[in-house]
Order: sequence, then C-alpha cells, then structure tokens
Amino acid sequence: MTAIVIERDEHNILHLILDKPDSTTNLMDTAFADDFAATVKQLQEEDYNGIIIRSAKPTFFAGGDLKQLSQTQPEDADALFNMLSSIKASMRWLETQGKPVVACINGAALGGGWEMALCCHYRIAVNQPTTQLGLPEVTLGLLPGAGGTVRSVRLLGLEVALPLLTEGKLFKVEKALQLGLLHATVEEQADLVPAAVQWIQQQKEARQPWDQKGYRLPGGTPSQPKLAQKLPIVPAILKEKTRGALPAPEAILSTMVEGAQVDFDTACRIESRYFVQLACGQIAKNLINTFWFQLNEIKAGVGRPQNVPTQKIVKVGILGAGMMGAGIAYSAASAGVSVVLKDRSQELAEKGKDYSRKLLAKRLAKGRSTDVKNETILNRIQTTDNTQDLADCDLVIEAVFEDRELKAKVTRETEAVLTADAIIASNTSTLPITGLATASERQENFIGLHFFSPVDKMPLVEIICGERTSEATLAKAYDFVLQIRKTPIIVKDARGFYTSRVFGTFTNEGMAMLEEGIHPASIENAAWLAGFPVGPLAVSDEVSLTLLEKVRNQTRLDLGQDKVADIATDRVVTTMKNADRHGRAHGKGFYDYPQEPEQRKALSPDLAELFELESNVSNVHDLKDRLLYIMALETARSVEEGVLKNARDANIGSIFGLGYPAWTGGTLQFINQVGLKQFVTRSQALAEQLGERFSPPQLLIDMAANEQTF
Ligand code: NAI
Repeated sequence: MTAIVIERDEHNILHLILDKPDSTTNLMDTAFADDFAATVKQLQEEDYNGIIIRSAKPTFFAGGDLKQLSQTQPEDADALFNMLSSIKASMRWLETQGKPVVACINGAALGGGWEMALCCHYRIAVNQPTTQLGLPEVTLGLLPGAGGTVRSVRLLGLEVALPLLTEGKLFKVEKALQLGLLHATVEEQADLVPAAVQWIQQQKEARQPWDQKGYRLPGGTPSQPKLAQKLPIVPAILKEKTRGALPAPEAILSTMVEGAQVDFDTACRIESRYFVQLACGQIAKNLINTFWFQLNEIKAGVGRPQNVPTQKIVKVGILGAGMMGAGIAYSAASAGVSVVLKDRSQELAEKGKDYSRKLLAKRLAKGRSTDVKNETILNRIQTTDNTQDLADCDLVIEAVFEDRELKAKVTRETEAVLTADAIIASNTSTLPITGLATASERQENFIGLHFFSPVDKMPLVEIICGERTSEATLAKAYDFVLQIRKTPIIVKDARGFYTSRVFGTFTNEGMAMLEEGIHPASIENAAWLAGFPVGPLAVSDEVSLTLLEKVRNQTRLDLGQDKVADIATDRVVTTMKNADRHGRAHGKGFYDYPQEPEQRKALSPDLAELFELESNVSNVHDLKDRLLYIMALETARSVEEGVLKNARDANIGSIFGLGYPAWTGGTLQFINQVGLKQFVTRSQALAEQLGERFSPPQLLIDMAANEQTF
C-alpha cells in the first residue's frame, strides 16, 4: 500500500494519484516521505511526456501530520530534519527533471498540500467555495517547512509573501489567480485532467521561474536599497504583535530573509532548521493541542450528548433587542437562521435590528458583502412586540434586563405559545439557571446560553445546564451554537459559570498590585507582555468599577464574607469611587478618556496620589506570572468543583472568552507546560508571599503527586 499510485494515460502522461491508505485525507508524514522518494526513484526509470499530480480524496491534500508533529521532542530533531530533506529532494527532482508537472487541485490544499502544489510548474484548481488554499502553519506555531516558505518568497517576493506566511491567511481561487499562484481554473472537477493534459501537450519542457536564466527575486533582494530600507522595521512590527511570546512569525521572517540571500537548496535547508526548532518547542505543542485537536473536538460535538441526533434550528426567537439580543440576532441571521426579534415595543425591536443594518453596511463598504446578501440577511430578521409571533420558533433566547422577576415573567409568557419540544435559553450573565428554570412548566427544556459582548466578534458561548435540563435540550442548544458558527463550551450551573468567575480573578489581581504600590504602567505592561489583549486596569474600566463592585457584593451575600477576602480590591474600588472615577463610561477610571476621538486614553496621573506608588521597578516576570497563575488556579478550582468537565472547554473558554494568551494553549495547558509539580511549588510560594488566593487546590497537589497532566 502506498500513498501515491502511479498511472500512465493514453497521452503518455504519468498521473501521481495521492491516496493515503485507510485515511480520508492525504497527509505529509514519514510514510508519505518514503512513498514520495520511492515514486521519484521509479519515475527516473520511466519515459513520459509530463506528470499530473492529483488526489483521490475529496480534498487535494490536508498538510502535515499534526499528531506526529505534536509529539516531536528535541531527540527527534534529526529524524524530522531528514524527513523534510527527503520530501524536499523529491519535490526538487520533480521541478527540475525537465518535463511539465501539473497540480490538479480538486479541493482544499492547505499547508503541506499547498506546498506540494507549489513545486509543480502549473496549478489548476476547481473554482468552488471549498477550494481553500494557503499556508496556515503559523497559526499552529509552525512554518511551511516543505519548501513552501522558500517557494512563496521566490514566486511573490518578500513583501507580498510576508503577510501570507506570517499571518497564515487562507485564500480562495480568485485571490490565488490574482497573485499568480494559480495558473488556471475549471468549473467542474471532471475538467481538471483534460485541462492539465492540454497544457502539458503544449510544453516541451518546463522549469520553475527561479530555475530560469535571468530570474530575479520579485521586489528585490534584502541587500537592494529599496528593500534594505524597509526590512529593518519589519521585526519591530512583528514583535509588537507577538510580544515575543510566539516564535513562529519570527522564524518565518528569518527563513524568508535569510533564504532570499542564498541559493535554492541552501534556502530549503535553512527552512528545515527553523521548522525543526519550532516543532520541537513547547509553543507549537500548545497551539496544536488547543487550536487543532481540542477545537476540532468541540466542533465535532465530542462533549455533546451522543445519543441525540444532530438537528438544525430553523427559527430562533430573541427576547430583548438590547445590546446582547441585537448581537445574537445578527449572528443567527448571518448564519442563515430566521429570527424573530422581540422587545417591549416595535420601535425598540427595530432599534435592535438597526444594529444588524449598521454592521452589514460596514461589511458592504469594505467589499465583504453585497447589497443582495445584506438584504437577504436583514429579511431574515422579523421584529415584533407580540409574543404570539414566537409560536413556531424552535429555540427562544431570553436577553431581557438582568432581573429575576422579569425573566420569569417573559419565560412564562413565551412558553405558553411555544410547541412542546421548543426550548428556552437564558443569556443571563449571573443568575443561576436552575433558579430561572423554575418559572418554566417544562424545566427540562430550559438552559443557559451565555454569549459574550460584542456578540458579532466574540466566538465563545457558554452552555449552562440547570439541574433538570435534558440531554435533548443540551444537544439542541449545542447544535445551534455551532450552526451560528460560534464555539460552545459546557459548564455547570455555578456562580459565575466558568468565564465570569475567572475574569474576576484577573481584574482583582491588577487592583491588588496597584494597592501594593506597583506602578499602573508596570501592571498594564506586564499583562501586555504576557500576551493579554488588554491590561486588568483597562478592562476594569471597560466593565465599570460600579459593576465589579456590584458583582462582588452579590458574591459576598451568596457565599459569605470569608470566601471573598480580597480586601485590597475593595480598598482600590472605594478609593476610585471617592475620586469619582468609575470607569470608561463615566469618562474616567484608571485611565483618562479624552473627549476628542483622535486622542488616546492614558493612565491617569492622579493614580500616583490616590495610591502610594513605589518608586522601585517591580519584577515584570513576577507580575506576568501572577496574572497567568491566578487565572489558571481559578480554572483548576473550577475543574475540582465540577464546573468544567474537561481541559478542552477550559483551554478554549479561557482563550476565546477571557483573552488568556493564545501562546499558552489556555489555562490548563499553561499548567501542563509549567509542569504540575513546578506549578504547585510556584503557587505555594506566591501564596506565602501574597495570600491564600494563590494556594493550589488539592486537585493540583494530587495530580502533581501522581505525575498527571490535564
Ligand atoms: P440591554 O439593557 O441592552 O437590553 C435589554 C433589552 O430587553 C432592552 O432592549 C429592553 O427593552 C428589553 N426588554 C425588557 N423587558 C422586556 C420584555 N418584557 N420583553 C422583551 N424585551 C424586553 O441589556 P443587555 O446588555 O443586552 O443584557 C441582556 C441580558 O444579557 C442580561 O441578562 C445580561 O445580564 C446578559 N448579558 C449581558 C452581557 C453584556 O456584556 N452586556 C454579556 C452576557 C450576558
């Protein structure tokens, strides 16, 4: 059994048919490298007019074997380097043997798959939405290591190739044609081979542009003045994005620039060396674990009840056309679901629909949508002030004010008009679902769907099961979240669910640092350097100190004073309140918010007087650790208390819902990579120095003792 089947057609053209045995996709793994080498050896004995590379699978080629790559250890470096060298030698032979080689791209060609296509002289693809092309390796902490970096640079030049490689953006057929990466398209799959045959018959021989006489790197080499002036700022721009925490974009830039100054084979060797370095490192493992394996498990519904068949929501009702309701309506309608958007008056409901109108107009202005598409989406949103209009909804999401009584009232009203199998989901941010469900006659059909603001941008939805929520309801809610292209995690009905609870630890820690006299700029910078999108003080301002205080007071009422012992945070909030600094909405908080839109917010100089700031510089590593650890610890406690059932939901939830830095792979993966033992030891040291909140839960101590990981 081989991954490459060779067939000869009546035109004396050899077809290399990519068909990995016992697999739905073609993968670039050790077996492929060996089969590819054997194929090349055989081809050297043959006489032929040209070569066609095509796939027997629904996609062209899926890329590297991530399972194999995620297990790569430093001691595997040589073997990995040799595998890459073998694949590269085979590719190089194909492109230099003289006869024309055509890639027939029948579907997605990503990563290694697109690299395979790039070593062909001519690339034809089927013009269909599923033909996705590109090199997304960077998003998993890797670089295109099968010649893709080297060939992209030689085809496009450094400047054009840079964003494609360092951002890993995928592109469709049209863009590929425009960039000159594709040579032709066909409308039907059946036309691929005839088009390839026709092109081959017109060529006597073929060579890659970089193997032709007089080839010059498009846009110039790094030593030419035009580029030499621009290049020095590129690392700085990259560093601003990666904060130095993501090694892949930097390795890609180095591969590109170093490779552009040497011959093709040397460039390929440089590329392999950087690839091996990344693959053996921790960050690639974090990213592959979370953004590939765990995210795909969520998308495949692994955590959803398996005994309930997948279903589609045709019509969703939304109660409350405020900030959240309006956003949910937009997301659902954009994904093809019919929406009934209800508020207290028709006018308020229309105001909610205006949100979709505004977002769609923006998309149109950016060329991302058309008038027709926008119209279709808007037509899916029916506005109303009449509960009766919800009668044929499969699911109703309640997003009225955060008020128990009001929520109970609208639940009863709505349930009265719904069919027996329709479900109601509350978008409450704080109220327990089991309690809210008591308003319902059919508590098994009641669930929590916690969206994040702004809904159109935030990918996460927490699904909260009440005590009596049925499996069928959970499955339906889960399917809906996927249907509207969001990412669901399942959490227990406990205070703060998962994300709100951990979010509080981040803002509190920032305030505790301030209370200790640490300079606010150091706090915010430490968060930024750790990879958080915004610092704890900035985010407290966004949420407003009044709301943070309200949540704390409620928690205190519910749990008792001793469970909420972060007095430092209280003192900070009181000091800020007395100084009339309530947060962004009030124009001032930890930051001053200038009226003029072109002026940027800045940390307020008043903080120096309000808090006794120490003049000595604090240790940035400690500050970074405190933010990363406190959130990871609270996550471990959530696991211990059964709020979360698995590491997958914790990792994805923390990155997508809380802005926990992506390089870590999420809160629990952070603990894994530090090592359970080391994590426990460091937490205990922090607890001694800073307080009980850093004490590791028993679960972690036990896991460390048993050498377990999440
Ligand atoms: P909002 O105040 O912007 O909107 C609430 C809407 O409900 C208003 O348009 C109001 O007119 C409408 N409403 C009130 N009574 C109604 C009734 N009887 N029938 C129909 N509509 C009625 O509030 P927001 O921010 O959209 O929050 C809604 C819910 O989502 C709350 O439970 C909140 O806790 C929760 N939530 C809020 C988040 C946020 O960031 N704002 C995040 C996640 C959840």
